[in-house]
Amino acid sequence: MNFAVLASGRGGNLQAIINAVHAGQIKAHLKVVISDKKDAYALEIAKQAKIPAYYINPKDFSDRVSLDRAIIQHLHEYHVDFVVLAGYMRLVSSYFVDQYPNKILNIHPSLLPAFKGMHAMKDAFEYGAKVTGATVHFVVEQMDEGAVIVQEPVRIESNDTLESLAEKIHAAEHRIYPQAIELLVNGKLKIEGRKVILKN
Ligand code: GAR
Repeated sequence: MNFAVLASGRGGNLQAIINAVHAGQIKAHLKVVISDKKDAYALEIAKQAKIPAYYINPKDFSDRVSLDRAIIQHLHEYHVDFVVLAGYMRLVSSYFVDQYPNKILNIHPSLLPAFKGMHAMKDAFEYGAKVTGATVHFVVEQMDEGAVIVQEPVRIESNDTLESLAEKIHAAEHRIYPQAIELLVNGKLKIEGRKVILKN
C-alpha cells in the first residue's frame, strides 16, 4: 500500500511515522509529503528521508475544493491508497473525503470528543482537566468528528506547565499514530457506525 502525509508544522508525527516505516512496523510505502506551509519543518524531514515533498500554496486557489483538487492530483500521481494528516491545520473538503472514503486518518491532541479545535492542549490545560490525551480518528467532513481508532490518556499533574503537557501528549501521539496506521495497513479496522471494531 502507498500513503501520503499532509503536514503544516514541525513534523514530529511525520518523523515518528517515517521511523515506524523504517523499523518495519508500518508495512506500507510513504510516497509523498505535502504541506500548505512553505516553511514547515515537515518538508525538511521528508527531504532528509528522501521522500518527495511538495509545498502547495493555498493562496494560489480560489476555494477549498480547488486546493484539494490540486492535492488529490499529487496523490493520484503517487498512487496513494490512504492519507495521513499529521498536524495538517486545515479542514479537508467533502470532495477530498469522497476521494478517500474511510482512508484518511487524523491525529488530535485531546481525548475526543473533548477539546475539539485548533488549541486542544491549551484548552484542556486552562480548563483544569486532570486527564487529556491524544486521539487518532478517521476523517469526515466535520472537524474532529470521525470514528475513533486509538486513544491514549495523559494525566495533567498539578506541576505540569503547558510545555510539559505538550511534551507528554506529543510522546503519546508518536506511539499511537504508528499503531493506528499499522492497524489500517494490516486490514484490522472495521467501521460500524461511529465505532471502529478491531478485527482479529
Ligand atoms: C500535533 O500535536 C497534532 O495533534 C496537532 O498538531 C500537532 C502537530 O505536530 N493537530 C491538531 O491540533 C489538529 N487539530 P507535528 O507537526 O510535530 O506532528
